[in-house]
Amino acid sequence: MSTIFKVFFVIVNYLINKPLNFISHPDAGLPIDEFLGKYGYPLERHTVVTEDGYLLTAHRIPHGKHSNGTNRYPVLCIHGTGGVGEMFLFPGYGKGIGWYLADRDFDIWLLNTRGNYHSRKHRKWNPDKDPEFWNFSWHEVGVYDLPAAIDHILTVTNKSKLFYVGHSQGSTVYLVLTTQRPEYNDKIALGVNLAPSAFIGDNNYLLMELVGKHRLLFKSVMKGIGFHEVLPFNLNRLVRTLMRFVCSEINVFVDVCNIVFNFPDNTHQVDPATFQLIFSYVPAGCSLKQLNHYLQIVESNSFALYDYGRRENKKYYGQVKPPIYNLENITAPTAYFYGTHDVITKPEGIAKLISKTKNIEVYKIEQGFNHVDFLFSKNVIEIVNKPLYSMMKKYVVNID
Ligand SMILES: *[C@@H]1O[C@H](CO)[C@@H](O)[C@H](O)[C@H]1NC(C)=O
Ligand SMILES: *[C@@H]1O[C@H](CO)[C@@H](O)[C@H](O)[C@H]1NC(C)=O
Ligand SMILES: *[C@@H]1O[C@H](CO)[C@@H](O)[C@H](O)[C@H]1NC(C)=O
Ligand SMILES: *[C@@H]1O[C@H](CO)[C@@H](O)[C@H](O)[C@H]1NC(C)=O
Repeated sequence: MSTIFKVFFVIVNYLINKPLNFISHPDAGLPIDEFLGKYGYPLERHTVVTEDGYLLTAHRIPHGKHSNGTNRYPVLCIHGTGGVGEMFLFPGYGKGIGWYLADRDFDIWLLNTRGNYHSRKHRKWNPDKDPEFWNFSWHEVGVYDLPAAIDHILTVTNKSKLFYVGHSQGSTVYLVLTTQRPEYNDKIALGVNLAPSAFIGDNNYLLMELVGKHRLLFKSVMKGIGFHEVLPFNLNRLVRTLMRFVCSEINVFVDVCNIVFNFPDNTHQVDPATFQLIFSYVPAGCSLKQLNHYLQIVESNSFALYDYGRRENKKYYGQVKPPIYNLENITAPTAYFYGTHDVITKPEGIAKLISKTKNIEVYKIEQGFNHVDFLFSKNVIEIVNKPLYSMMKKYVVNID
């Protein structure tokens, strides 16, 4: 018995004492203005108001550290589910897409889509009190958030077109926008999609498979709860703090974090020192309906609008099944970057996507790249940024 107590005491002692110096990443916990300012980059904060009343925060990096004028080519960057604009600064200074493009004549706009901690605001609804606030999926992000952001950016910059870079759900909403609001195709010089997520039914990500199989249960639980945030605001913050500790390099659990981030085959793309930076900003919050919509397209393997059930569908769509997003309607030049080791957006799903889209560029990454490596990999400069930049350069004509 006393041995157990001793072990217990040692662990508790460890947990109590370690957190005092568990922050080892020099930029962990910095608000975005300080993070950018520390390395000589400017920041502007913009509020974008959507047609349906959401107030979104967009962070703009108008130029890199070597110039004082605003860069020529606006690029709208859209994060994934539960993410935040700061992810385009991962895996840290000098590496992430945001820094890289800001130093090369691109005017960076990091939009925070509805529901994350920078964009928990609405003209009428209080996210903490009104469930209506959380009544959205990524469909609404594509149909309302993106048009509002694009119009705002084109007005501020006086350009006719912008570039688009979306990761994961950031690509899903690009496909929603370009199929549901076809007039926006003309405002996009090139839409780049990293780990494009539309046909994800073939995925073998165990968690998604499990939840996907029990979607009906999940859905009835969700109905019981009502429309809601996935993790209430303060819990998100708690998870971030906890994960910063758990995945700290000085902690034994860092190996577990390593395995999770380098799933499926331990390719070591993510430097463990980056975990603390990542968990300074994510998870950032999302709605249950967003996840449920993903589960629907996993289960049906059909990229379709939200399924409200037969009777409600009839009311919303005039048919019992939700209509599909017709990818053939996309006319903007579109690029797909995908990793062969991505277990969420697998090559089979990518092939389907490619076969349905016209006017595309495809960039395949074989260096053991999984879903998160596009933003988290220590090798992003060589593997992502350089090919991305040279592809974007081909489309810079005619945007003034
Ligand atoms: C930036 O501004 C300063 C003073 O306002 C000026 O001296 C300098 O030449 C400018 N640099 C560039 C790259 O435009
Ligand atoms: C949720 O949104 C849908 C579609 O926008 C709308 O028809 C429905 O009335 C909303 N439900 C609630 C409870 O606000
Ligand atoms: C906006 O761009 C147009 C076309 O390039 C130009 O004619 C106009 O002067 C610009 N307006 C401002 C305010 O810069
Ligand atoms: C998409 O294209 C089909 C024909 O291919 C057309 O009937 C439909 O109206 C288009 N939808 C939109 C939203 O433009």
